[in-house]
Amino acid sequence: MATLTHAGLRVLIDEFGGCDLFFSEMISAEAMIGGTRYEPYYTVAAPDPGKLIFQLVGYSEERLVEAATRLVQTEAAGVDLNMGCSAPHIVRKGGGIAWMADTDTAVALVERTRNAIGDRSLSVKLRLGASDDLGRLVSFCRALESAGADFITLHPKTRREAAARMARWSFVRLLRDELTIPVIGNGGITGEQTLRARLREAGSGGVMIGRAAARAPWIFAYLKRRISGDRSEYRVDLATVAERFFRLLDQHQPADFLPTRAARFVSYFASNLAFGHALGARLGASRSYDQIRGELFAYFDDHPEAKVHLERG
Ligand SMILES: Cc1cc2nc3c(=O)[nH]c(=O)nc-3n(C[C@H](O)[C@H](O)[C@H](O)COP(=O)(O)O)c2cc1C
Repeated sequence: MATLTHAGLRVLIDEFGGCDLFFSEMISAEAMIGGTRYEPYYTVAAPDPGKLIFQLVGYSEERLVEAATRLVQTEAAGVDLNMGCSAPHIVRKGGGIAWMADTDTAVALVERTRNAIGDRSLSVKLRLGASDDLGRLVSFCRALESAGADFITLHPKTRREAAARMARWSFVRLLRDELTIPVIGNGGITGEQTLRARLREAGSGGVMIGRAAARAPWIFAYLKRRISGDRSEYRVDLATVAERFFRLLDQHQPADFLPTRAARFVSYFASNLAFGHALGARLGASRSYDQIRGELFAYFDDHPEAKVHLERG
């Protein structure tokens, strides 16, 4: 997730354990080839290159293939092609979900990327498309499968369905039935109850967790315990997690990025706190790194009881 799943947050999640595969923030193929001074930060293969997939977003087949070729010079596990982003400034230029509009163009991109990256993992992240036309989705995904995609992640919403709208996991099940490659489901998993509900809807298989991983970097470890039947209390010291996050942020991100990355993280993380939504909204809009850290730790000083978080699913 852009501005969230940088190396710092990934290391923090890994320190809790439980996450099998990490996806980087989307990396712009155009920016990477243009060589901005920030690009090295996007391609740090922490915490573990063998578990890291770099996601690319872009508008041209040429650039995306070139960027993928460069990325596999690192030891990363693979490359993911973003065909799901619905942000208007990306779609307008032909990136993200715009790739779903034409099967032949998408297939050509997947085939060339497949050839460029050899035996590294190649995956594609999708939404349902412009509408919830299952037949169209299945034929698109079958074509990507034939073109060499190793797996697909489906966030089952149409292009225009907003964040608040429930993802339709029945489509994950339907797509799983039609493909031979794995289909990872994504969207709306916030804890144990929502995980179990989504698995009931879609059948067993991999899941991707997005925003909840910023709210609760321990969520993968916690959910794995629950799934294995371990119902013991899961207790987290939020102040320690926040301190560790800021230390890792300092270590893994350029100074220019610190305010925006801290603000974005805190806007999710603060929802662990009583009345945290107001704090999260205020700090999420802040442009001062010192203010974000200062106010968060002042909150913990004023409310020492809030440091202890018990995960309830
Ligand atoms: C701040 C933010 C940044 C995101 N950036 C990306 C991205 O770079 N690539 C991507 O495939 N999806 C991105 N997404 C979408 C998420 O990967 C995911 O599909 C969506 O949030 C639904 O999953 P969730 O309910 O588990 O968060 C982003 C979402 C958010 C909120």
